[in-house]
Amino acid sequence: MQKLLVANWKMYLVPRAAEELAEKITAWANEAKTKTATEIVVCPSFITMAETGVALSTARQIVKLGAQNCASEARGALTGEISPADLREMGAEYVIIGHSERRRYLGETDELVSKKIKAALAAGLTPIMCVGETAEEKRQGQTEKVVDRQLRMGLNGVELLAEQKIVVAYEPVWAIGTGNACPAEEASRTQQMIKKELVEILERDDLAVLYGGSVDAKNIRDYWTQAAVDGVLVGGASAAWEKLSALLEKI
Ligand code: PGA
Repeated sequence: MQKLLVANWKMYLVPRAAEELAEKITAWANEAKTKTATEIVVCPSFITMAETGVALSTARQIVKLGAQNCASEARGALTGEISPADLREMGAEYVIIGHSERRRYLGETDELVSKKIKAALAAGLTPIMCVGETAEEKRQGQTEKVVDRQLRMGLNGVELLAEQKIVVAYEPVWAIGTGNACPAEEASRTQQMIKKELVEILERDDLAVLYGGSVDAKNIRDYWTQAAVDGVLVGGASAAWEKLSALLEKI
């Protein structure tokens, strides 16, 4: 399976900085084209998406555009929301859904995650569904239970056509933005469980499962070399060229 590196720029960059970073990625991708078997998905903020998309346009064979969230409907009276159909129209191919920052600060529930996944698929986007336990849940030994619930509820009623896919990112909440990455073997165990569940729930054994949470140039190889890890979702270390280029050198 082709490995995937998802760059989640969160709300870190002003539009000009996002555009400049995208230009650097494009220059790298055009040089590296023959060397890399990795697909890169850049997820800028909505407001920087147009410029970022243009700056990445000549690198699209390797670098795809993604969004960080979308609405649960394609159209309607939803003030302030962003339609997955419009994201697709703008050139996005992926959308992150159910990131823990949204679950935690904006109250996104498993039910809403499920609706958004369906809306994203209907619009022709590939959802990157985030799951993962909090520090407290881990302390109580509930990792499997929590991830199982998030998967079963989030994917409830989801039916994939043969040409559709979803990506799952295992992102322990305690590892995100903390510098305290989950050891690769431990992440890999949870990822194996996720893969098994995807076979049960969606009857698919070809879906990518990523790891996310404090991935940087120092630890990326640990994940990259695990068989059950199909790639990584990177936040902080993807939003500045010195850090991102160091990561790209390792893959
Ligand atoms: P981080 O973020 O790499 O900054 O820990 C990962 C994420 O939020 O997905």
